[in-house]
Amino acid sequence: MIQRTLVLLKPDAVRRGLVGQVLARFEAKGLAIVAMEQRTITAEQADRHYAEHVEKDFYPPLREFITSGPLVALVLEGDEAIDIVRALNGATDGRKAAPGTIRGDYSLSNRENLVHASDSPESAEREIALWFPS
Ligand code: CMP
Repeated sequence: MIQRTLVLLKPDAVRRGLVGQVLARFEAKGLAIVAMEQRTITAEQADRHYAEHVEKDFYPPLREFITSGPLVALVLEGDEAIDIVRALNGATDGRKAAPGTIRGDYSLSNRENLVHASDSPESAEREIALWFPS
């Protein structure tokens, strides 16, 4: 089934100059970029995006990080895009993510893990509406 998913190339990806390499992986897989914008978000926007995590212990430093500089928000489209993108990203913790995945190849951190992607059709719908209301 053709799906759309919301992806963030987090501030560490922008700072490290990895935007092109990460986008190239998504494109090479066959996914289409249907919207994309670089933004620096506020704490309030971070809280809306990470609504399910705001009460967690790891959230304050995550909010600090995600608002620390520009990120690139995009919508990817393709067959089974939600699960495919999560597989390309790899496990959340870059130290545990398998080699060959984006986090496995480029991240050594549980927080600064380069990419975010929607984890279900419901979160994709919510996150796309939040980031790209038009
Ligand atoms: P993401 O896929 O954007 O979803 C929530 C984010 O919180 C996750 O990627 C990490 O950046 C961060 N995160 C999740 N768990 C932890 C943790 N235990 N410690 C620090 N950051 C975390």
